[in-house]
Amino acid sequence: MNPRILSLLSSISIVSTLILITCTISVIGAKPDSSSGNDFSYLERSCLSKWAAAEEENNRKNQTSPRRRTAEMLSLETPELDCTVWSEACSEEVLNLARRPENVRWMKDLRRIIHANPELAFEEFETSRLIRQELDGMEVAYRFPMAGTGIRATIGTGEPPFVALRADMDALPIQEAVEWEHKSQVAGKMHACGHDAHVAMLIGAAKILKTREHHLKGTVILLFQPAEEAGNGAKRMISDGALENVEAIFAVHVSHQHPTAVIGSRPGPLLAGCGFFRAVIRGKQGSAGNPHRSVDPVLAASASVISLQGIVSREANPLDSQVVSVTSFNGGDNLDAIPDTVVIGGTFRAFSNTSFYQLLKRIEEVIVEQAGVFRCSATIDFFEKEYTIYPPTVNDEKMYEHVRKVAVDLVGRENFRVVPPMMGAEDFSFYSEVVPAAFFYIGIRNETLGSIHSGHSPHFMIDEDALPVGAATHAAIAERYLNEHR
Ligand SMILES: *[C@@H]1O[C@H](CO)[C@@H](O)[C@H](O)[C@H]1NC(C)=O
Ligand SMILES: *[C@@H]1O[C@H](CO)[C@@H](O)[C@H](O)[C@H]1NC(C)=O
Ligand SMILES: *[C@@H]1O[C@H](CO)[C@@H](O)[C@H](O)[C@H]1NC(C)=O
Ligand SMILES: [Zn+2]
Ligand SMILES: [Zn+2]
Repeated sequence: MNPRILSLLSSISIVSTLILITCTISVIGAKPDSSSGNDFSYLERSCLSKWAAAEEENNRKNQTSPRRRTAEMLSLETPELDCTVWSEACSEEVLNLARRPENVRWMKDLRRIIHANPELAFEEFETSRLIRQELDGMEVAYRFPMAGTGIRATIGTGEPPFVALRADMDALPIQEAVEWEHKSQVAGKMHACGHDAHVAMLIGAAKILKTREHHLKGTVILLFQPAEEAGNGAKRMISDGALENVEAIFAVHVSHQHPTAVIGSRPGPLLAGCGFFRAVIRGKQGSAGNPHRSVDPVLAASASVISLQGIVSREANPLDSQVVSVTSFNGGDNLDAIPDTVVIGGTFRAFSNTSFYQLLKRIEEVIVEQAGVFRCSATIDFFEKEYTIYPPTVNDEKMYEHVRKVAVDLVGRENFRVVPPMMGAEDFSFYSEVVPAAFFYIGIRNETLGSIHSGHSPHFMIDEDALPVGAATHAAIAERYLNEHR
């Protein structure tokens, strides 16, 4: 992309960090620094040495390697509960599997290795390799690669129904400001959105589901996708066949707004559709002392900014929340001259597809026509080719109800919350356009630990005690879905 877009996008990133799950275009403006390039040996070194250390520690303590422990866990104590008719005991069993100390330890270790070695969108090579290594260890089959680094793993009968669970793998171009043992080892990159935890929870779910595989009444598809933050990960996964045969899909996101392991969701629109625009307004350069000899794009752009405010305030139903924000205004640097062009840009959000595309249409009309009033011309780019338009994330009512029921049975009514919609965006919306879907949150907020910062903050951290509950929720959502849709 050209540098002007890059500077616009990085200014957008400042705005977007204010939101929990931001509309994540900002990453595109920040390609990985070339100093690390494609050399992932740093990751290999650190991962291997950590694994080696962990293994040594285990052997010292227990004389049993983690790999053998996994195998033993799968054969020993195979749960006897069938759970075709789900009961309280079934929820307990799934939760107990997730909370086994060796499983908790393993999920935390995985999350920490990934946290210390963040990889940006479409570069999740080592993260993907680590996941495949764990899947191999559990003898879970998978298709790889999809969308570059993505994985589609399969557990169950191989027969319908097929239900999917999704985790994203990418980190952000942010310098971690948290000082802790497993701080990012890569300058300028950080898992500041919790995707490291999403991977750990889905791997944890894989273990639970593998342990209960002979009870599954269909097939669970586990999707590990690249590039949520850069927008086209989900889209490319879908075009590579991620949703083949799949009839419903679920995903979780960590949230600093809810206490550790509290689960939240809502039916209908949950996250906004999100788009960006950049308009080039052209006039005619001239001496500022003789304005009549030039055509002034500064005035045209100023009028456009003012008029854009009228779209939401005067044209949108006040009960249908929408946003148009102009975040960038650039043109001219000679105080004595009227410039040729002014470039303005910003973002827009809405919770329905109709409102979203209405905003897009009106932003274009308003800028073009306001430019015309002042004898200027305007062209507008919505970055559609870069897939930076995210549709709204809309939870299917039935799928939401499924999540609510599973969560209440697992964590209790008092630990489930119906949450308000948020103006952030998620590329999970691409899946939710194709099959019935539900997106939910798991709390990671713990004042004692200090995990109180929003996603995309350099201070972001999580309470890892949420991991087993997240894994159990994933697993129970899938197993119960299959039971109820045979
Ligand atoms: C060693 O590992 C086995 C298998 O997971 C477990 O049953 C046992 O409790 C462990 N022993 C110790 C001392 O950690
Ligand atoms: C949303 O609207 C756009 C433009 O009208 C259309 O291309 C797209 O298919 C719509 N998506 C859904 C889910 O209705
Ligand atoms: C917060 O974390 C601390 C330390 O791990 C733990 O003792 C405490 O129970 C946690 N609080 C909540 C509300 O989860
Ligand atoms: Zn994010
Ligand atoms: Zn995220």
